[in-house]
Amino acid sequence: MTIKALFSTPSAEPYFKDIELPPPKDHEVTVQLLAVGYNHLAKSRAKGAHYTASKDETIVGIDGVGKVKGTGELVYFVSMEGTYAQELNVPKAAVYPLPANSSEEDVDRVIALANSAFASANAFSNRIGSLPENASVAVLGATGTSGRLAIQVAKNMFGAKTVIGIGRSQTKLDQLKKDEPLLDDVISLEESDEAIISGGKLSDIDVVFDLVWGNSASRVLNAAIKSKKVPHKRLVWVQTGQIGGEKADISPMALRSTNLVIVGSGFGPQPFSEIVKLIKVLVEKLADGTIGKGVPYKPLPFGTADERWNDELGDERVFFKF
Ligand SMILES: NC(=O)c1ccc[n+]([C@@H]2O[C@H](COP(=O)([O-])OP(=O)(O)OC[C@H]3O[C@@H](n4cnc5c(N)ncnc54)[C@H](OP(=O)(O)O)[C@@H]3O)[C@@H](O)[C@H]2O)c1
Repeated sequence: MTIKALFSTPSAEPYFKDIELPPPKDHEVTVQLLAVGYNHLAKSRAKGAHYTASKDETIVGIDGVGKVKGTGELVYFVSMEGTYAQELNVPKAAVYPLPANSSEEDVDRVIALANSAFASANAFSNRIGSLPENASVAVLGATGTSGRLAIQVAKNMFGAKTVIGIGRSQTKLDQLKKDEPLLDDVISLEESDEAIISGGKLSDIDVVFDLVWGNSASRVLNAAIKSKKVPHKRLVWVQTGQIGGEKADISPMALRSTNLVIVGSGFGPQPFSEIVKLIKVLVEKLADGTIGKGVPYKPLPFGTADERWNDELGDERVFFKF
């Protein structure tokens, strides 16, 4: 069967091409796509910049929702072979059924937000150990899609008591406070380091969930260390994105003078079996609205994915829908 798919190489912008889809193998199902996710990971892989990217021509995208041909079952799937196609053969082990009663709105929420929600869900589930009781979490990059979701994930999936959002724009943080009822407080990076430290909001933090890195991370880490009420109380810094820069200064004294643990979260640090278990739960939580409600997103037509590919991700997360 001939299908249309969006391809890229590290040196070429995404382009549509017709390909022949062979019949599925015994361990595969054919999924007829309903929508595909658009996110920093898909963009960075398409230009060959991500640590999981291929150097050869590949189909764009890392996730999709669709119907299994023959059964009509609604599924979400992740594939490093690409997902931007009308139909694809996917290993049966890599498809995650959506609840049978999922509405179109539920399906849209899953595909628009799954990758962004994965950032914090994987960090909390697989990388930081168990959260202490009444945990206090700070989210660096709170005004973005993954940051907003991290607030909901920390509270609704992992039972955090307090979440503080950190961002570079006071105006956006003020808006976020109005829009996100689970957010307890904010810290603006427009403030000086001295003001952040004397404000004391980081003095008892258990986890900093960092989507940003760069100078912003250096400032927050330094402020968190200097604010600490009890130096030996464990502070886990979990690094998940580098949208603010590739390098951050960390004083070696920070590691010796306090109980600071720095870990990263992504596709590398745990066996894929752990990711599989997590995605199953994540899909259910997004589909039933435990997480994702209120986070802005909007569909664009699948056929426009080539011309929209270089659009900024913006404050409203786009996904491409058939
Ligand atoms: N490891 C994982 O599992 C995983 C999963 C998903 C995403 N990520 C990564 O996480 C990062 C954020 O993703 P997203 O989906 O939230 O993106 P997004 O919706 O585009 O949001 C980006 C966020 O980063 C902030 N930001 C950008 N540059 C900054 C800087 N120099 N200093 C401080 N804040 C800065 C933005 O602030 P403004 O709102 O003020 O613009 C916004 O809060 C990306 O690097 C992405 O690749 C990682």
